[in-house]
Amino acid sequence: MKRSVIIGSGAALPRNAVSNDELAKRVDTSDEWIRQRTGIEQRYIADADETTASLGEAAARKALADADVSIEDIDLIICATSTPDNTFPATAVNIQHRLGMTHGAAFDMQAVCSGFVFAVTTANTYIMSGQADRVLVIGAETFSRILDWEDRTTCVLFGDGAGAVVLEAQEGVGLSNDRGVLTSHLRSDGSHRDKLYVDGGPSTTATVGHLRMQGREVFKHAVAMITDVIEDAFAATGLSADDIDWFIPHQANRRIIDASAKKLNIAPEKVVITVSQHGNTSAASIPLAIDSARHDGRLKKGDLVLLEAMGGGFTWGSVLVRW
Ligand code: ACO
Repeated sequence: MKRSVIIGSGAALPRNAVSNDELAKRVDTSDEWIRQRTGIEQRYIADADETTASLGEAAARKALADADVSIEDIDLIICATSTPDNTFPATAVNIQHRLGMTHGAAFDMQAVCSGFVFAVTTANTYIMSGQADRVLVIGAETFSRILDWEDRTTCVLFGDGAGAVVLEAQEGVGLSNDRGVLTSHLRSDGSHRDKLYVDGGPSTTATVGHLRMQGREVFKHAVAMITDVIEDAFAATGLSADDIDWFIPHQANRRIIDASAKKLNIAPEKVVITVSQHGNTSAASIPLAIDSARHDGRLKKGDLVLLEAMGGGFTWGSVLVRW
């Protein structure tokens, strides 16, 4: 049977890192408050010339080089983002053009912080059905552009960046020791849409709007939703927390990550944490974390990797993949 094997990754960050102390000069907050509540130490903030598409392009070029494939080999580009350069065309189409690709197709995926998990699942479906052999999946965001910099309860949490992976169709035997995506589980429930949202849009205010969040409500639901879809992944494959080599969660908040790992009995040393350095980069956080773990030598071929995310909507999902 066909499997979608991840054959390369790449990442790109804006040139400016902003520490908690620097942020405390413009917002009524402190390094201590942010670290204690979230684990965040710094985040990257895009300059005017750095956009979702430019960061996404940079990450994509590195992923293509890492996979040792050219843009000619790619059939489909999916860009997960909630902060597109323009309302339309899709940022994926912009990146497609920047990469010099005129064949195949490109589209955006909008599932907020769960976007990368939704995009990998979609790419896997294209590959499994034989409609694509190689898919470039990008998570790219410039959340700094939709933050209300007067609202200290949200603006300290987020950052900008991009990450990308290349998935390729390879033959597997259908067992859990195959390389590639083994199972994925997506969920959403729009009854929670007012707990984390942007208060503007083309069809309502004709403005971009700002991010609004009921932080405690998000926290309250996060761990239960995350652990639910991970238990689905274990049930579908017969694998367990003991089999996992690396847990690479969406990087929203250190406390959510620690509580989820604890509830699932995943050992702390198996958890990849980058929220301290990047803040919450929404759809970019998982591919940024993947790229860190690959390049510091932790993540190796054959490792079993559990990805999960939860975000606005609410949306949530898990992907179990053997590297
Ligand atoms: N600096 C200093 N003080 C602050 C700040 C800040 N940046 N923000 C809020 N405070 C104050 C509040 O005003 C409040 O003060 P008061 O007691 O005098 O009224 C106090 O800190 C406590 O505020 P709470 O909102 O109750 O703080 P809480 O402990 O709930 O932490 C937080 C807030 C970090 C947002 C938490 O609710 C959380 O982590 N929620 C999850 C949200 C999240 O991670 N969202 C990411 C997007 S969703 C996703 O990606 C999964």
